[in-house]
Amino acid sequence: SESDVVVIGSANADLILEIDHRPRGGETILGSDLVVMPGGKGANQAVAAGRLGAGVAFIGCVGPDAYGQMLRTSLAEAGVDTGRLHVADLPSANAIILVTPDGENSIIVSPGANRRMTPELLDGCRATWAGAAIVVLQLEIPLDTVAHVATHAHRAGSRVLVNAAPAAMLDDEVLALCDPLVVNESEADFLVPGGTTGMSPAEMTDALLALGPLSVVVTLGAGGAVHAERGGDVVRTPAHRVQAVDTTGAGDAFVGALAAELAAGADLAGAVTLANEVAAVAVGRRGAQASYPWRAELGR
Ligand code: RIB
Ligand code: NA
Repeated sequence: SESDVVVIGSANADLILEIDHRPRGGETILGSDLVVMPGGKGANQAVAAGRLGAGVAFIGCVGPDAYGQMLRTSLAEAGVDTGRLHVADLPSANAIILVTPDGENSIIVSPGANRRMTPELLDGCRATWAGAAIVVLQLEIPLDTVAHVATHAHRAGSRVLVNAAPAAMLDDEVLALCDPLVVNESEADFLVPGGTTGMSPAEMTDALLALGPLSVVVTLGAGGAVHAERGGDVVRTPAHRVQAVDTTGAGDAFVGALAAELAAGADLAGAVTLANEVAAVAVGRRGAQASYPWRAELGR
């Protein structure tokens, strides 16, 4: 593979509405004008890594429509190789995003072309991903594809980063090769048998490591992040203090930056430090990809 970081995942056109409160069942409310922006966890992570200057390729599927063009342009402008961004026979995926004044969001994804991310499609471009320094996966594409890629990428010598978002169950075989497994608190609660209610961050990382991954990172929002490698210490990294404008895709900014920094040879602690910095910039601006910093903005 010619790229250090290969991100395999979803690309969604985000349809964003600002609302003053979430509607209840049977309630109709007026929102802001609709804003359309490039998103999708996979594409977001690729853009975040690309803007930091990493050699990144993105493998995904969009529809033969204007949203697909928008997604391709955003990736390309971040320096991401889009040679394996397939145009599928389904419309581009959408995410309907409701943002409240506190910067909190609720998201509904309509999968569209992301459903064409099959194991067969990935086998057709195996040279792009198998053996890359780091292969990055999330769970907005079919889970059998995630398992297939993780297994074969690992076999080919790639480091496999799995962001278990949105929360879904992964096979033990897949969990065992994550390095790291990256989750937020609610995804951790979902994955750990019996949940994580009442657990300290250190207990959470222990419970996640017990599922088998080589390393784990838990993002804690305003609480920063906590990470641990198997047999190693639990490390807590505080968040930068920022005024949240829009947290949409902040977790993806974190993951993309983490991958870029790991591919550049950083250790997990160093990569988490940069990822925190990048996520802090992302929450302070509107949108997902549009809010991600370029390397030059970080003063590094
Ligand atoms: O993680 C944020 C992303 O989730 C949004 O860009 C949206 O597309 C959904 O996939
Ligand atoms: Na943002």
